[in-house]
Amino acid sequence: MASPLWVAAAVAWEAGKPLVIEEVEVAPPQKMEVRLKILFTSLCHTDMYFWDPKGQNPLFPRILGHEGGGIVESVGEGVTELAPGDHVLPVFTGECKECAHCKSEDSNMCELLCVNSDRGGMIHDGKSRFSSNGKPIYHFLGTSTFSEYTVVHVGCAAKINPRAPLDKVCVLSCGISTGFGATVNVAKPERGSTVAVFGLGAVGLAAAEGARVSGASRIIGVDMNPNKFQLAKQFGVTECVNPKDHNKPVQEVLAEMTNGGVDRSIECTGHIDAMISAFECVHDGWGVAVLVGVPPNDAVFKTNPLNFLNERTLKGSCFGNYKPRSDIPGVVEKYMNKELELDKFITHQVPFSEINKAFDYMLKGECIRCIIRMEH
Ligand code: APR
Ligand code: ZN
Repeated sequence: MASPLWVAAAVAWEAGKPLVIEEVEVAPPQKMEVRLKILFTSLCHTDMYFWDPKGQNPLFPRILGHEGGGIVESVGEGVTELAPGDHVLPVFTGECKECAHCKSEDSNMCELLCVNSDRGGMIHDGKSRFSSNGKPIYHFLGTSTFSEYTVVHVGCAAKINPRAPLDKVCVLSCGISTGFGATVNVAKPERGSTVAVFGLGAVGLAAAEGARVSGASRIIGVDMNPNKFQLAKQFGVTECVNPKDHNKPVQEVLAEMTNGGVDRSIECTGHIDAMISAFECVHDGWGVAVLVGVPPNDAVFKTNPLNFLNERTLKGSCFGNYKPRSDIPGVVEKYMNKELELDKFITHQVPFSEINKAFDYMLKGECIRCIIRMEH
């Protein structure tokens, strides 16, 4: 049986206030849990959202962080698939391998471990494995990677090739897999096709990378912020459109550019108007649109049903439709085989002691991904 560890963690004590690096106690892993030594983590918009007052997160103090890479340090009762020393990516949405979703070939919405931002403790007993002077600190998305050590459910840890550089592949824990998978697993563009990507943040650029890898011949980036266009060209985006430059809906602009509509579109903004445009810009007869961005709670999708009768398809996707444990090791192999590029997503790096700088870079819109190096 493992013993408690005292380690450095970046604790979010209050919404919008800098994280405080301090010593916390990490309890041993319980039934079906593993304790991980985190080596690298990166900052994603979802961490920022739950840190920011507008995220209305009621669970403080909390250890945020959900993109990371680490090594199994100890395992709890019942864990047979992982052992100390295994390299893993913690994943915010899990795979129990037993429920109807996990058994379905189509779904990754695991009944037991599907993403849940309201949960602040572990599934086994509802309790936290983190504490500071005896006071519990909440978990985040079942991962809490902003800590030298964390405890996760075994179903939320994907075992990967130990030769894969964790400082690079850690970005596959969330955003990059989400965008890349939405294209390659859900939109599935054919070689030579035209793909529109709405939103050129990390997720949209990863969707564009998926289009590039699929052999799309035209990749049209759509964004309201023209500062995104130069960088997007480095990600295989061939043309850029700013809806603000036109006095008609962007779906009409795209239809004119493409002889009636794009073959595939991937929406990576989280804004309802972009979602509707992303659907209405696909070609009738065969066009497929995939929604990826997370909309506000009260959003309503409105379109004329004829858009469906004309044989357009609308789909949605969570985590690129990847089953985290079964599929993510294969995505890591794609990187190792140079089929998928990750290094271009990593624009910044900071030591753990400067984690708040990563928040500044993201707030200023300066970075795609900032890697945070743990300092064991
Ligand atoms: N049309 C086109 N582009 C838009 C629109 C719009 N109506 N609204 C916003 N954008 C652009 C922004 O200018 C920005 O460049 O979408 C981009 C979104 O990028 P980021 O904010 O960096 O977000 P990212 O991390 O890529 O995530 C995208 O996926 O995971 C979800 O919640 C996340 O909904 C978000 C989305
Ligand atoms: Zn399941």
